Amino acid sequence: MFADRVLSGMRPTGSLHLGHYHGVLKNWVQMQNEYECLFFVADWHALTTHYDTPQLIEQSVWDMVVDWLAAGVNPARATLFIQSRVPEHAELHLLLSMITPLGWLERVPTYKDQQEKLVEKDLSTYGFLGYPLLQSADILIYRATQVPVGEDQVPHIEFTREIARRFNHIYGREAGFEEKAEAAVKKLGGKKAKLYHELRIRFQEQGDDAALESAKSLLDEQQSLSHGDRERLFGFLEGGGKMILSEPRAMLTAASKMPGLDGQKMSKSYNNTLTLREDEASVSKKIRTMPTDPARIRRTDVGNPDKCPVWQLHQVYSSEQTKQWAMQGCKSAGIGCIECKQPVIDAVLAEQRPMRERAQLYLDDPALVRNIIADGCEKARKLASETMREVREAMGISYT
Ligand code: TRP
Ligand code: SF4
Repeated sequence: MFADRVLSGMRPTGSLHLGHYHGVLKNWVQMQNEYECLFFVADWHALTTHYDTPQLIEQSVWDMVVDWLAAGVNPARATLFIQSRVPEHAELHLLLSMITPLGWLERVPTYKDQQEKLVEKDLSTYGFLGYPLLQSADILIYRATQVPVGEDQVPHIEFTREIARRFNHIYGREAGFEEKAEAAVKKLGGKKAKLYHELRIRFQEQGDDAALESAKSLLDEQQSLSHGDRERLFGFLEGGGKMILSEPRAMLTAASKMPGLDGQKMSKSYNNTLTLREDEASVSKKIRTMPTDPARIRRTDVGNPDKCPVWQLHQVYSSEQTKQWAMQGCKSAGIGCIECKQPVIDAVLAEQRPMRERAQLYLDDPALVRNIIADGCEKARKLASETMREVREAMGISYT
């Protein structure tokens, strides 16, 4: 409906590790150059599962922002903020809860999955059930067009689209909609108004999706339309009411293949991580003591890289040439495991060096980080309050 806008959030529930870097942050850093981006600390989301360890959340919030900055997220390009500093998210969550059927929430796959996975926690709470709706509010309040998520979160985006549609269906009806929409078409000017009509008819009578897309881009190009007219014209294309909340699309990010120190996926719960800014001595030590092919007991035993977690790290970090060297050296017992690990240690340290340097800047002057977040929160709040104004008006609670 509007220019592309990307929104993503991350829960502050512990330090970030290289799996987050390769799986999410590198992607954010790339997107900030291509789209308008909003990235936020999802502290209320963290509370839905970690309500009994608030200290962990509090500790993680600032560390996480420093990790983002260290990874290269650029506050001049992306808006960084903390969810709870923009209380409008909670207001939209509440208002959307009025029209959210319980069954829709119960059917979100992560609801049962997470309850089964995190058995040590009591997740039969109102907050946990409602968390996909909180996520919908996060997305809809900024009219985000794209949401980068992993596979497991795709149902949340689909759910968000259904909520937006339901909201527009219930509250997008205004008295005299057709007349107001026709008046808005006239404001496009003769040629464009004619084109809009033709495209609308082609879509509505023949289901021509290309015509719908053309009409949408026609509207996107109109700078002078008022917000209300824009919503009417988008709504008029597809149906009978204003389109107040726009449906986001999921932007699927490939699942992180980052292996951990034991060959399983890198994850805090497996205790196999290297943190983003782990100190050099600790990185070297952890990699030097990594398990290798268990069949390679003595230096003279040949090994099989396919049975070795170090080999998986070579896949992420090494050139073809280095991989050849490791493969052949392993299979012929030409090299020892400590030797084989050295290029991986060097590559991880080289990757982390600029991150550690950037982080140092912020650790030396924490006010920098507070200011970045204060700016971001202010920008986010401005956007969020515009949407809220329209939502309240549509729901009849603006009392002007
Ligand atoms: N639910 C996401 C997670 O657990 C975090 C999140 C919250 C989010 N709100 C969001 C992601 C909005 C994208 C958009 O990882
Ligand atoms: Fe693993 Fe390398 Fe040792 Fe082979 S030589 S077992 S690939 S660490």
